[in-house]
Amino acid sequence: MGGLAKKITHHLVTLVLVIVLCTTIVEGTKHVSIKNRLGSGRNMTLHCQSKDNDLGKQNIAYGDEFGWDFSDNVAGTTLFFCDLGWENVEEFHFDAYSFARDRVRCGDAGCSWLVSIEGIYGLNGQTGYWEFMYQWPN
Ligand SMILES: *[C@@H]1O[C@H](CO)[C@@H](O)[C@H](O)[C@H]1NC(C)=O
Repeated sequence: MGGLAKKITHHLVTLVLVIVLCTTIVEGTKHVSIKNRLGSGRNMTLHCQSKDNDLGKQNIAYGDEFGWDFSDNVAGTTLFFCDLGWENVEEFHFDAYSFARDRVRCGDAGCSWLVSIEGIYGLNGQTGYWEFMYQWPN
């Protein structure tokens, strides 16, 4: 092989390695999104946390959503929990991502939630259907 061919081969190998590395990192990233579908003019407050991260108190207007990226921890204990409030519900506690419940159910992309006046729907990434997951307390 000539010097040029060697150089090109070397660059190609490097390029492939970089692509493989990037893909691996991206695959490890999940996203949770929680969308306000309560109806026009209804805001909700949302405060999500994990053991290590406090994502802060959010005010989310109708049609808007709040989301974040994360990776599952090696121990398989990743848990994000939220307190949500709106006009009719002062404070409702729910899990937005639990490794044990959601790793398979939500799929590799992570979990999506819709907050409605009936309760909270979660997207099942396996079936593609929205499931009614949480009913507001009476
Ligand atoms: C709802 O949120 C919007 C923007 O975040 C704010 O301007 C508005 O005052 C809020 N409405 C109520 C009723 O709190």
